[in-house]
Amino acid sequence: MKALIAYGTRYGATTGTSEEIAKILREEGFDIKIVNLKEEKIKDISEYDLIIVGSSMGNCRYASEAEDFLKNFRKEFEGKKLALFVSTMITFFEREGKIDDVTKTRKISLEDRVAKYNLKPIALGFFGGVIDYNKMGFIARKGMEIFKPQLEKDGFKVAEGIYDLRNWDEIRNWAKELSRKAGQ
Ligand SMILES: Cc1cc2nc3c(=O)[nH]c(=O)nc-3n(C[C@H](O)[C@H](O)[C@H](O)COP(=O)(O)O)c2cc1C
Repeated sequence: MKALIAYGTRYGATTGTSEEIAKILREEGFDIKIVNLKEEKIKDISEYDLIIVGSSMGNCRYASEAEDFLKNFRKEFEGKKLALFVSTMITFFEREGKIDDVTKTRKISLEDRVAKYNLKPIALGFFGGVIDYNKMGFIARKGMEIFKPQLEKDGFKVAEGIYDLRNWDEIRNWAKELSRKAGQ
């Protein structure tokens, strides 16, 4: 089966997640192309059996290039297997017991996209991303500063100013399950 992973990223976590999903799917026998939608425009998806769309979440917004991709190809997705995933703060909210934030993030990140474009995905992945204070501009850093003490306490720190919220086992299991569903 041929699969396309097309993603939008601001700070780069979605690139790493896309590459890990690609690695798993290749092990399962898929022929994979990965595209960062900011670097490459996709004109045609007819050759692919499975399309995976990834996006970062920033200030409650889906990445605009991933949104455009969903909008432009929504008709072509019919008759193909489609899966969507997002890089978010969900794993942090879960650890903090902030269930309302988990529910809200699920809704605004993917459930609203599915409804808006009338999509029929076979899988939705709500993953953690990376909070990297070194990469943020002044205003973003100010806005995200309030989370720093809890991120520290929750053990997400991987280097100075960098907090990795990704649960790799969850991401790998999602990719394995997706491979099974797509093969059906
Ligand atoms: C300024 C800023 C705003 C963010 N806003 C949200 C948000 O509204 N919801 C969320 O779940 N995560 C939010 N995040 C966390 C991102 O989802 C996380 O950093 C993710 O890794 C971004 O994906 P990317 O690294 O591929 O750009 C925000 C991060 C930054 C730096």
